[in-house]
Amino acid sequence: MTVAVYPFCPSIGLQVIFLFKLISLTTGHPPVSTQSPNFAWNLHGKPGDGYYTEVEIGTPPQKFSLLVDTGSSNLAIAGAPHEELDTYFATNNSSTYVDLGKDVKVEYTQGSWSGHLGRDRVRFPALLDSITVDTDLALITSSNNFYVNNSHWQGIVGLAFSALAQPQGKVTPWFDGLVAKYNVENSFTFQLCGPYKDKGISRHHGKLIIGSSSDVCPSATATSPIRRAWFYEVLVVNMAVGNKVLDIPCVSYNTDKSIVDSGTSNFRLPSDVFKVLVAELRMQTSALVPPLSENFWSGTEEVCWPFDREAWDAFPNITVHLAHSNTSAFPITIPPQSYLRPAPDAMNDTTDCWVLGIDESQTGTVLGAVILEGLCVTFDRGHSFIGFSKSSCGPNVVLGKIYNSSDWSSCVYMPNIVDGLTIASYVMGGLLLLLSLPLIFASLRWTWQSVLRPQLYPEVPFLTLDEPNT
Ligand SMILES: *[C@@H]1O[C@H](CO)[C@@H](O)[C@H](O)[C@H]1NC(C)=O
Ligand SMILES: *[C@@H]1O[C@H](CO)[C@@H](O)[C@H](O)[C@H]1NC(C)=O
Ligand SMILES: *[C@@H]1O[C@H](CO)[C@@H](O)[C@H](O)[C@H]1NC(C)=O
Ligand SMILES: *[C@@H]1O[C@H](CO)[C@@H](O)[C@H](O)[C@H]1NC(C)=O
Repeated sequence: MTVAVYPFCPSIGLQVIFLFKLISLTTGHPPVSTQSPNFAWNLHGKPGDGYYTEVEIGTPPQKFSLLVDTGSSNLAIAGAPHEELDTYFATNNSSTYVDLGKDVKVEYTQGSWSGHLGRDRVRFPALLDSITVDTDLALITSSNNFYVNNSHWQGIVGLAFSALAQPQGKVTPWFDGLVAKYNVENSFTFQLCGPYKDKGISRHHGKLIIGSSSDVCPSATATSPIRRAWFYEVLVVNMAVGNKVLDIPCVSYNTDKSIVDSGTSNFRLPSDVFKVLVAELRMQTSALVPPLSENFWSGTEEVCWPFDREAWDAFPNITVHLAHSNTSAFPITIPPQSYLRPAPDAMNDTTDCWVLGIDESQTGTVLGAVILEGLCVTFDRGHSFIGFSKSSCGPNVVLGKIYNSSDWSSCVYMPNIVDGLTIASYVMGGLLLLLSLPLIFASLRWTWQSVLRPQLYPEVPFLTLDEPNT
C-alpha cells in the first residue's frame, strides 16, 4: 500500500530520520545470523491481495499474518474483531504489552485505519528465526477499505523509512528498531514469484530476505539510487510498449514521484502517462478477436480465454527504464504474464481469466508487484539504492544492461515549494501595502491637490511648460 502524504510533512519527518540514525550509530552488537534455517517461501497470498508473512506478537506469542509493504512505515495489527477477519491481537492476553497512550491514524492512497499506539515483542519466525524486537505497533480499532476479505492477513508491516511513520517522530518502524538493536545489515531483498495455480486457485508466493544473502538471489546487476529516504523513491526516465517508446516528457513519469512498493499489486501510472501507455497497448492488441472491451482497459472487467488457446503472444512487452546515475539508466522489460493478473474468481476448468494490472494514479508512478515479480529486488537502505538482479522464479522479466545517456535532470519533478513561497509573498505583499498606506494617501493627496483639483477647478491657470509644442 502507498501511504498518503501531505505537502510539508515529509521534511519534518526527514529530520527525525537523521536523529534515529545518530542514535543507532551509538549501539553496537555482535553480528547475528540473519538466515532463517527454514529455507522455504516465507511470503504467501493471492494475486491482487498482496504478499504476507507470519508474525508472532506478545507473550505468550499470538500468531498472525502481516502484509509486507515497502510503501509505508507503520506496523499495525487488528486490535478489535472485524467482519472480514478471523482473529485479532488481544492485548489483555499479552504480559509484555505496553500501552503508549496515544492514538494514531494512517491513510493510504486506498483505505485507512485508526487505532491506538502500543509496544510489544514482535518476531517474524520465517524471516529471522530467533530475533524478537520490542516494536511500536498500532492496534487497529476502526478501518475503512483496509482489510481484504479472505486475504488471511490481519495487519501490515511497513518497511519504508521512518519519515513516513505516524504519528511523525513518535514511533520507530520495526526495521529501524531491528537494525539499531541487532547488527543486521541495513538492507532486505524481495523475491516475488507471481501467480501459480494450486488446485485450480490462483496463489502467489515469494521470499523476503533480511540483511544480505547471496544464497537466494544473485547480487544486484543494476542499481537505482534512492532519491530521498521516505518512500523508496527512484527516477523513471523512459517507458516503451513493445518497440514503441512513449512520446511523453520524462518528468511526467515522476510527477509527483516514482516509488517501489511491494504492498501495491499494480503498476500504477500518473494519468497522462497511463492514457498514452494504454492507447499504445490498445493499438498493439487491436488484432485480438473479439476486441478487448473498454472496461478491460479501465481494469473493471476481465478477459478470458481457453487453456488451449493462450493469447499471450498478442500482447506486447512493456519496458521501464530506471536511472542508474545522473547520466545512465537500465531497462526492465516485463512480459504480459506480469501485467495481466489472474482475475480474483471466475476461474473454471476450461478458461483462464485475467485483469489488467496497470491503473491510473494520482500520486505518481508506483512500481508495484507487477514490476517486482520475476526479479530479486534489494532495498539497500545503508547504501541508498534499490538493486535488481535476475530471479529464479516468476514471469520471464528481462533486466537490461546499464547504458549511458544525457543528463536526466529534466526527468526530476520539482515539488511545488512555490506554494509556500507564494503564501509568504502574499503575506509580505500585504505587510508592504499596510506599511505604505500613508505614502499612498500622501501621493493621492498630492495628485488631488496638484493635478486633479487644478483641472476640475482651474482657478489657477494650469500650464505645462516643458511639453514640446508639436
Ligand atoms: C485470551 O485468552 C483467554 C484465555 O486463554 C482466551 O479464552 C481468549 O479467547 C483469548 N482472547 C483472544 C481474543 O484471543
Ligand atoms: C467474506 O467472504 C466470505 C466468504 O468467503 C463471505 O461469507 C462474507 O460475507 C464476506 N464478508 C464480507 C464482509 O464481505
Ligand atoms: C517479450 O520479451 C521476451 C523475452 O525477452 C521475448 O522472448 C518476446 O519475444 C518478447 N515479446 C514480444 C511480443 O516482443
Ligand atoms: C546528479 O545531479 C544532481 C542534481 O543535478 C547533483 O546534485 C549531483 O551531484 C549529481 N550527482 C553526480 C554523481 O554527478
